[in-house]
Amino acid sequence: MRIGVLCSGGDAPGMNPCLRAIVRAGAKHKDEIVGIRHGYRGLLEEEFWQGQGQSESPDAIPLIGVREVSGLTNRGGSFLNSSRCLEFQTAEGRQKAVSILRKHKFDALITIGGNGTLSGARDLGRLWEGQIVGLPGTIDNDLLGTDYTIGFGTAVHTGVDAIDKLRDTAGSHDMMFLVEVMGRHCGDLAAYVALAGGCELVATPETVTDIPAIVTSLRQFRERGKRSIIMVVAEGDEFGGAETIMKALKEAGSPFEMRTVVLGHVMRGGVPAPFDRILATRLGCHAIDVLHNGGTGVMAGVVKGRLSVAPLDEAVKPKTAETGSEEALKSEAATITRLIDRLSV
Ligand code: F6P
Repeated sequence: MRIGVLCSGGDAPGMNPCLRAIVRAGAKHKDEIVGIRHGYRGLLEEEFWQGQGQSESPDAIPLIGVREVSGLTNRGGSFLNSSRCLEFQTAEGRQKAVSILRKHKFDALITIGGNGTLSGARDLGRLWEGQIVGLPGTIDNDLLGTDYTIGFGTAVHTGVDAIDKLRDTAGSHDMMFLVEVMGRHCGDLAAYVALAGGCELVATPETVTDIPAIVTSLRQFRERGKRSIIMVVAEGDEFGGAETIMKALKEAGSPFEMRTVVLGHVMRGGVPAPFDRILATRLGCHAIDVLHNGGTGVMAGVVKGRLSVAPLDEAVKPKTAETGSEEALKSEAATITRLIDRLSV
């Protein structure tokens, strides 16, 4: 089977071990694994990884060799690179992609990425006869059909590491930090970082950010002798990012001196944590199995700890309901927020 593999959208720690698993698991089936560089853009530009793998077909195409993926388990980023591609978002772009996939006789495509990547895979699957399997690779944990996405665990670790350091300074100076983490539409990353970091407050797109109520809590913290406060803010919080919230808290009379720290792209980098290496490896192998079992149009994930598949159409449905709605308040981010409130005495 000739299988193209690409990473698209924001990179995530664990993409490399996932690629390693795909190449190695594919080798057992004598699959031809073609690395497509720079995501969908590389597909449109026919930018293939010039690997050492040997094709037995007469129409030789460069393959990723099994030895070329050695030492990837502990490497962040994606050795195939990634990109966001506007052309692929157009009908013409996707039609061009189909012609290229046909021209190079691909049987299947594995796409690793977040919501945009998997939506693109779904749309491509409506035009192309080959098999398509998506894998959840994003620090945002914003996909349905999997407990966790590849990269999320490492990003939580990175955020907590930063907070542990900031706590020292917050304590030394009796001050408050508002730490902004990624997560455009989903508050999972913020909530997990805040819980693991022992933070007092968290703002996510799922819950309503109520400035007067936060100022009341801050005054109570002060009265009870709390000297350092850390609030984690998801970049997609409905009120705004850390800077906007800090300004509003100042105007509403926050009793703490405040600073903001935006972790931004730092959260996407670094050595993948063991949890992500394991998840990425399991899912890479799973994708190969799904393809050999005839599966297509699905995302391979892990649900309640077990390997699973979900239709791409389902996986990319918005995970986050409207801020403060009944559904949003049942989300993991909102549940964790309530837990943090209970502990912030
Ligand atoms: O898609 C993952 C993500 O990390 C989001 O949380 C964030 O908003 C976005 O990437 C930033 O991406 P870019 O690199 O395009 O600025």
